[in-house]
Amino acid sequence: MKGIILAGGNGTRLYPLTLSISKHLLPIYDKPLIYYPLSVLMLAKIRDILIITKPDDEKLYYKLLNDGSQLGLNISYAIQSKPRGLAEAFIIGEKFINKDSVCMILGDNIFYGQGFTDQLSKVCSNKKGATVFSYFVKKPYEFGVVELDQFSNPISIEEKPEILKSNLAVTGLYFYDNNVIEIAKSIKPSKRGELEINSINKVYLNQKKLKVEKLGRGFVWLDAGTFETFINASQLIETIENQQNCKIACLEEIAFYNNWIDVNDIYNYAITMQSSKYGQYLLNFVKQNTN
Ligand code: TTP
Repeated sequence: MKGIILAGGNGTRLYPLTLSISKHLLPIYDKPLIYYPLSVLMLAKIRDILIITKPDDEKLYYKLLNDGSQLGLNISYAIQSKPRGLAEAFIIGEKFINKDSVCMILGDNIFYGQGFTDQLSKVCSNKKGATVFSYFVKKPYEFGVVELDQFSNPISIEEKPEILKSNLAVTGLYFYDNNVIEIAKSIKPSKRGELEINSINKVYLNQKKLKVEKLGRGFVWLDAGTFETFINASQLIETIENQQNCKIACLEEIAFYNNWIDVNDIYNYAITMQSSKYGQYLLNFVKQNTN
């Protein structure tokens, strides 16, 4: 399975912060926002990853993540010249996806909770159709909204509806079989001029090939697009990390547990940033995992 992180967009709700830099490079507490969606792909054991960026940003992402080999990944980059919608990712990424299935995650989405790795592994093993993740929210009309029947099968899926059929938002994590490329090419832009991910999901729904995984009450899903969500997410990550003395979305730690890199790789990286708490955390991790 291939992985795509969609990290373009103008981030207009964060102006003037995002006039000169992509929001996905801004910090959520102690690491850049993009670490969080990247960690999700890594938890799903996906190693071939395409990061889609705005034209000016590619160099900065490369400086941060390089070709991914330091994490046991194979990261490539592609450009979206304008924010023409989430579904364009599958047209831009056609060659990269090739004949594979694909997981796409939005670059500003944060997922955290117990049991998530098992849930991802279950979804990854299903190579047919599409799977989206739903989450109960206070303001569903700001999102795609999915309505489920008593067996948790989707009945309807609507983008930012005025009349709500449920409180279940569709989160920014999507799994598709290879048909998604042709479906993305076949859909028309919406009234706001974007190729909507919801149009793709509707095709799968109509074909009865859409599955919905529920993320429960104890789970955290945050969509970091405003000043408030940035500060709330940072505070939440800080609280959990300091309370438990563990890091959320520590890429080197995940790569180690996946057996993609070893303690020496982590040590060589950590020593270059030992004055930061992130670096110190890694050095301590090396110590605990060295016999
Ligand atoms: P949005 O939050 O819808 O858009 P944005 O990030 O540009 O923010 P704003 O509304 O403040 O202008 O995008 C959700 C995510 O998807 C975000 O990580 C950016 C990404 N995105 C793209 O990469 N390309 C696109 O065409 C769109 C619409 C979004």
